[in-house]
Amino acid sequence: MPGTLQPPNCVGTPLSWGIYRTVFGFSLCPGLPSIRAHREKTRCRVVEANRPAREQKGCLVKDVLLLNGPNLGMLGQREVGIYGTDTLFDIEKAVGEEVADRGWRVVARQHDSEGEMIGTLQGHYGAVGAVVNPGALMIAGWSLRDALANYPRPWIEVHLSNVWARESFRHESVLAPLANGVIAGLGPLGYRLAARALLSVAAD
Ligand code: DQA
Repeated sequence: MPGTLQPPNCVGTPLSWGIYRTVFGFSLCPGLPSIRAHREKTRCRVVEANRPAREQKGCLVKDVLLLNGPNLGMLGQREVGIYGTDTLFDIEKAVGEEVADRGWRVVARQHDSEGEMIGTLQGHYGAVGAVVNPGALMIAGWSLRDALANYPRPWIEVHLSNVWARESFRHESVLAPLANGVIAGLGPLGYRLAARALLSVAAD
């Protein structure tokens, strides 16, 4: 299933810590390790367990947001003559492979609504950057445009198809002027190339 490729950021935060945080607040519990530190440690363990021993040095894992818009969850079954047979899961896996050596992992999300796209962006300001295929929201997704204008990280717009070789209503993207780069027409390879571009332009 798209979006379920990676382990969650943090698993197993003890319930009691959540209660301390909610009821007492951090300042009244100075003896407790911070929840942030616990999350870092837990996340490290999850990721490190999946890495070869020679690569297990420190905890430097960062997230890359892979955000796909409306109808892209249907890849593999959707107009295969245009979009190909790869599923979104195949694409998420490929992007994960591209960034693994840098110690980055992919947080993959697909939404059919603009509001959810915006919510996901706002929730991932801490990622190193984003690869975004907005689907048809490229054409008139003004709210998404405003959300991307405030996104504090580099991001690359990707389209599987060459939108300029298609219907004229696809020829303009209201988002593209804000992107660090745009890749269109190269199919799933475009996502890999966008990930490589982020490797160049994004800071750890
Ligand atoms: C697309 C191109 C858009 O015009 C279209 O609405 C999509 C997919 C692409 O990846 O080629 O949904 O973004």
